[in-house]
Amino acid sequence: MADKNAIEVRGASKIFGTGEAQVAALDNVSVSIRENEFFTLLGPSGCGKTTLLRLIAGFDYPTDGEILLYGQDIAPLPPFKRPVNTVFQSYALFPHMTVAQNIAFGLEMLGKPRAEIDGRVAEMLRLVRMEALKDRRTSQISGGQQQRVALARALAPQPKVLLLDEPLSALDYKLRKEMQIELKRLQNQTGITFIFVTHDQEEALTMSDRIAVMSSGRILQVGSPWDIYDRPAERFVADFIGETNFLDADVVSATGDGRATVRLSSGVEIPATFPASVMPEGKVTIVIRPEHARVAAPNGTSAHVGHIENVVYLGTDTHFHVRLDDGTPFIVRQQNSRNGNSQTSFAAAERVGIEFGRDVAQILKD
Ligand SMILES: Nc1ncnc2c1ncn2[C@@H]1O[C@H](COP(=O)(O)OP(=O)(O)OP(=O)(O)O)[C@@H](O)[C@H]1O
Ligand SMILES: [Mg+2]
Repeated sequence: MADKNAIEVRGASKIFGTGEAQVAALDNVSVSIRENEFFTLLGPSGCGKTTLLRLIAGFDYPTDGEILLYGQDIAPLPPFKRPVNTVFQSYALFPHMTVAQNIAFGLEMLGKPRAEIDGRVAEMLRLVRMEALKDRRTSQISGGQQQRVALARALAPQPKVLLLDEPLSALDYKLRKEMQIELKRLQNQTGITFIFVTHDQEEALTMSDRIAVMSSGRILQVGSPWDIYDRPAERFVADFIGETNFLDADVVSATGDGRATVRLSSGVEIPATFPASVMPEGKVTIVIRPEHARVAAPNGTSAHVGHIENVVYLGTDTHFHVRLDDGTPFIVRQQNSRNGNSQTSFAAAERVGIEFGRDVAQILKD
């Protein structure tokens, strides 16, 4: 079923400590995670990601609020009775056991018959492509291979929901990229709901069906990677996800369908979108991604005019750090393709106009 909820978190709070030492690790969090979804919790260190996973797994209880699994309150269920399994950042494999023994461990704890365990272990070894190393001890395999074993071990008891707490952070960049694709494949093949934790925005954008951006124990925005990247609702979200430009503007008009016209400090008017929960008026901040703007010789169509302070060549693209005439910094990212589109080059200190593509400005709530 398309939109059935696997997990529903309703008004969950978690307070650690008492008195002066109190920490609100989670502050009234509500979120629904759909069946078969690859759902990511994204946010900086200390924002409450692990705490939320621990509540879902049952390693900890909320101070307030409730958590439903397929519509049922799971508070009375101890961790091992929840159809939920966790892959921890440290993997926590048993080094003295072989790959196959590690994968079998959870099934043995559940008291499954030997034949079923053997069949399931073989299936898991195939799934994570580790058949050839099944008799190797996990202390004698690479980090990426350990990661696969940890996944296979967590998937073996066929949980309905798999929680993954920064499972790729120990891997080097290339392996991490490979494992991202691998995890997506595993999720597709098994149909299990994945709740994935990361503080890496690129990883979140690559892998997720939907992302929840967290800060200081709260969920600020939930949406598809496109929503989160292109239609951030708040400054924190815009800033945390990739590079961006913030500009002051005045609202000229706004309509109920989320479309507005804003006037920039240059006097130029441009269209802008805004989040559903607000009706913008007066002075606002808009965001524009660097790749949605270009630099050109200043002319009548320039949205802003300024001078280039710095040019940074990055191989695939070049970043122009521009200082607008009103003093605001603005970054433009231009692709360095030789695909026949003519490119104009600019150097530091040159005066340039900034031009925008269509539908590139988003008004922030705050
Ligand atoms: N057992 C605990 N006792 C007291 N405070 C705690 C406890 N566990 C977590 N916290 C605090 O709660 C907040 C959220 O912690 P949490 O581990 O959920 O963050 P996180 O988003 O997973 O961070 P990271 O990316 O660093 O893993 C932090 O301020 C942390 O110090
Ligand atoms: Mg954590």
